[in-house]
Amino acid sequence: MKRDPVATAATRARYDRNARLYDLIESPMEQAAFRRWRKQLWAQVPGGRVLEVGVGTGKNFPYYPKDARVTAVDLSGRMLEQARRRAIHQGIAVELLQMDAQALAFPDGSFDCVVATFVFCSVPNPVLGLSELRRVCKPGGKILLLEHVRPESLWLGKLFDLLNPIAVRLTGANINRRTVENVLRAGLEIEAVHTAFFGIVKCIVARHPAAVVGTPVALAMERGLPQPSDEAVRDPVVRGSG
Ligand SMILES: C[S@@+](CC[C@H](N)C(=O)[O-])C[C@H]1O[C@@H](n2cnc3c(N)ncnc32)[C@H](O)[C@@H]1O
Repeated sequence: MKRDPVATAATRARYDRNARLYDLIESPMEQAAFRRWRKQLWAQVPGGRVLEVGVGTGKNFPYYPKDARVTAVDLSGRMLEQARRRAIHQGIAVELLQMDAQALAFPDGSFDCVVATFVFCSVPNPVLGLSELRRVCKPGGKILLLEHVRPESLWLGKLFDLLNPIAVRLTGANINRRTVENVLRAGLEIEAVHTAFFGIVKCIVARHPAAVVGTPVALAMERGLPQPSDEAVRDPVVRGSG
């Protein structure tokens, strides 16, 4: 899977350009529905170490769980500037970093949960980006996505394909991404998909797939490893590493 530096630079430039007007442009949809969906998505975040990818101007800040330690990244420096202002204004404790979702600078398994809202419509290589989310999430950890996708209806789907180049040029976002399929392609397990707005918006609850159920002894023998201590044997659920 390749990262296209030209497409990535173009995406960054588009969001840099739109950063100051972004909240204003999105405001009608935000009031009508996005707020409610964000709240529902974040209510499923278990706390612990959380990564928000594509934080944008920080619209999710009000929904961060109190017991979470959140790191948030974005490709666009200008979007991050807006997020920084909002974090100060709202008194939100968040570590903000400029980073590409396609090449996250975190070690494997760094986070208990990874969240992204309306991001994988604009990441140039979404499968590469989603694979990075899987990599930095702990084995068995949750990955929660809120995304607009290509409509399932045949004719609406074709119409969105047709209009996509205009949407990309204007907003930087693709309107015909098949994000549920991309999540599977990235090697994640899907637990649930909730659909809204004529099938265009999806809330995807996915998991890092490395939750292996079995006894530690059986697993250790299978892998040719030394057998674990008696204490470990009492816990029948093992989270595998890969
Ligand atoms: C439509 S905005 C959504 C922002 C925010 N998540 C929200 O819900 O309002 C998409 C965001 O994803 C960011 N983005 C796009 N490609 C990215 C990438 N490869 N890595 C990190 N962030 C990216 C953009 O800079 C932008 O801030």
